[in-house]
Amino acid sequence: MNLELTETQTLIRDTARKFAKEKVAPQARKLDREEIFPTATFKELAELGLMGVNLPTRYGGAEAGVVAYALAMMEIAAADASTSVAMSVTNMCAELIYMFGTDAQREKFVTKLTSGEAVVGSFALSEPHAGSDPGAMNTSAVRKGDTWVLNGSKQWITSGAHAGVMVVWARTSPAGNKGLSCFIVEGGTKGLIIGKHEDKMGLRSSNTVGLTFEDCEIPAENLLGKEGEGFKLAMVALDGGRIGIASQACGVARAALEASVQYTKDRKAFNQPISEFQAPRFMMADMKVQLAAAELLTFRAAALKEAGKPFTREASMAKLYASEMSNRVCDKAVQLHGGYGYIDEFPVERYFRDARVQTIYEGTSEVQRMVIARETFKLFT
Ligand code: CAA
Repeated sequence: MNLELTETQTLIRDTARKFAKEKVAPQARKLDREEIFPTATFKELAELGLMGVNLPTRYGGAEAGVVAYALAMMEIAAADASTSVAMSVTNMCAELIYMFGTDAQREKFVTKLTSGEAVVGSFALSEPHAGSDPGAMNTSAVRKGDTWVLNGSKQWITSGAHAGVMVVWARTSPAGNKGLSCFIVEGGTKGLIIGKHEDKMGLRSSNTVGLTFEDCEIPAENLLGKEGEGFKLAMVALDGGRIGIASQACGVARAALEASVQYTKDRKAFNQPISEFQAPRFMMADMKVQLAAAELLTFRAAALKEAGKPFTREASMAKLYASEMSNRVCDKAVQLHGGYGYIDEFPVERYFRDARVQTIYEGTSEVQRMVIARETFKLFT
């Protein structure tokens, strides 16, 4: 793996960094406190090519590859994790439609996502009683003439109240994992009901809702991929999505470390900046090593995906390690700030709250361990 960034990767990282610094970071605290969904920011991210970093320019993407996508995600997440999760899910939906869609689906829906016309995308897989085990879902889709009719409920849907384009999984036959199919549903479709907004511990300006489908009719041509192949589509999408969440975790942890360096240089105790004491210095050395290890795992998974090689295990390794690292690093950052780490005048309390969900969504740490073990056993049998 080449550890030097290419010109394109540097350009994407610098573009995301500038936007993150000038636009995203200054509004993050207010968005968090007031739970504001930053619609205008997503339009600007789309204009910069960041809603389809790994997609061809023909479909409105930046055609910059997966490593560039990871770099961009890290920058936006370091400024605001809430903004970055919607960016991650939008990239994931656009890539899935690009990978499995017909030309007409690509033309219509990928460009809506990459251009910002759809504002953002949503990934509607989880249900109230089927999170880690999507094969147990109950939402159904029944073919009726030129339409599919969807009925059922989804839970924890990121950006669900704002997404112009959603990918939605539903059961088209009773056959467990093999009975699932994937559909494209446009926001505002009759019979799609947006549920209550969840009041979350962190990611408070990210919108999380339940969705209910009540005789929701969509055109037959909105089936994505083949009937009965939905489970595979979900797994393929999540492999890529996990690189996005690993990158998010690295971005948040980096911000927490940077804030800690600054704070410990400014804060004095016992007649000297606390950065001069060994205990904080050792703590920050450990934070930096763990962050660097997570970044390398993330770039490794991204580079494999970009090279068209298998990367399922590496994406899960990156997601598992980065999300757990991010929780440890943010915890230490709060500790280094003392009482100031516990109030919202300093950003580390937000980083700490935002990091918590990273070991839960897009596959819990336990699910990542299942995937890593399954793929490792495959290598030796
Ligand atoms: N790529 C392609 N195919 C895959 C695959 C992959 N990565 N993983 C599995 N498959 C295929 C298998 O080859 C198998 O195919 P065959 O039946 O033809 O052999 C089939 O899928 C079933 O595989 P498993 O037997 O391994 O499936 P399982 O039921 O045991 O589940 C699991 C495995 C890893 C636990 C999976 O269910 C999983 O990932 N669960 C977590 C779901 C998740 O991450 N949800 C997140 C919700 S989205 C979200 O959070 C987004 C957001 O808003 C932030």
